[in-house]
Amino acid sequence: MSGIDIFDLKSGKNGKAPVITLNSGYEMPVVGLGTYSLHGSTCTNAVRTAIENGYRMIDTASFYGNEREVGACVRASGVPRNDIFVITKLYPNQYSHAGRAIDEALKELDIGYIDLMLLHHPGANEITAYREIEKAIEEGKVRSAGVSCYYIRETDAFLRKVSIPPALIQNEIHPYYQDTDVVRHIQSLSQKIAVQSWYPLGGRGYTDSMLNNKVIGDIAERHGKSPAQVILRWDLQNGIVAIPGSSNPEHIRENISVFDFALTPDEMKEIAGLNRNEKHDWY
Ligand SMILES: NC(=O)c1ccc[n+]([C@@H]2O[C@H](COP(=O)([O-])OP(=O)(O)OC[C@H]3O[C@@H](n4cnc5c(N)ncnc54)[C@H](OP(=O)(O)O)[C@@H]3O)[C@@H](O)[C@H]2O)c1
Repeated sequence: MSGIDIFDLKSGKNGKAPVITLNSGYEMPVVGLGTYSLHGSTCTNAVRTAIENGYRMIDTASFYGNEREVGACVRASGVPRNDIFVITKLYPNQYSHAGRAIDEALKELDIGYIDLMLLHHPGANEITAYREIEKAIEEGKVRSAGVSCYYIRETDAFLRKVSIPPALIQNEIHPYYQDTDVVRHIQSLSQKIAVQSWYPLGGRGYTDSMLNNKVIGDIAERHGKSPAQVILRWDLQNGIVAIPGSSNPEHIRENISVFDFALTPDEMKEIAGLNRNEKHDWY
């Protein structure tokens, strides 16, 4: 597999997570905060806590309705803008007027530029929308382009139609839905596209069964780590970057403290054996 080599990463500027270099030339931390379903002060407190604890990547989306809160936290953080990596997404109902939607996202975030703009899902007018992201890159409004919820067929068809390959594909990946064929396929492409997992801990409402899984629990105990940390480390060692969502300061701190231990090849295999092909969302 030609994914990132977690053992050979550069350290981030001020952040706690090491960085990879995307095919667009920009550096991106390998762990960030997901903000799906975090709103108002819950979102603000989570993003502030994350940045204070060394996070330098935040994932938001127009669909989440919290770009304004995320942008305000980035501005208030005191961390230089260039050191924070903000991902946002266009929703399919914006694809027909993507240029305007990108400007709206820039206005909501109010942080000068967007580090990575994703298409949230495959959909009608996706190529038109992606071309608008490419145009925004030329204009300095966006730095990198990517997609989300693209599997083998969608990715291959998409790559035939675009000139700038996506820098990253963000998909559902966790021990119960490992989607190994898709991950391997993306990681084998010559375009060097990064793979990022959404729902790394199974997603809200689904975490209990995974975090209480005996195999994961035993591995966690051996390393003196939590089950969530073991799962995030498993992602990283598979060359997958992750954006765990949390509004709990303890969890936020825990989820970025995954760079001081390593799973053995046998432990990686044990977790691989937990795959149930169990998707926790429909797309
Ligand atoms: N592109 C897409 O279509 C798509 C779809 C879904 C999600 N996403 C992105 O992916 C991110 C991650 O997904 P998610 O936030 O929905 O789910 P997730 O990261 O898999 O799980 C979040 C859940 O795990 C709990 N949790 C977090 N850290 C924990 C820890 N260390 N120990 C125990 N529990 C912990 C959280 O509760 P607490 O708040 O109590 O910590 C929350 O209930 C989203 O926030 C979003 O940015 C993208």
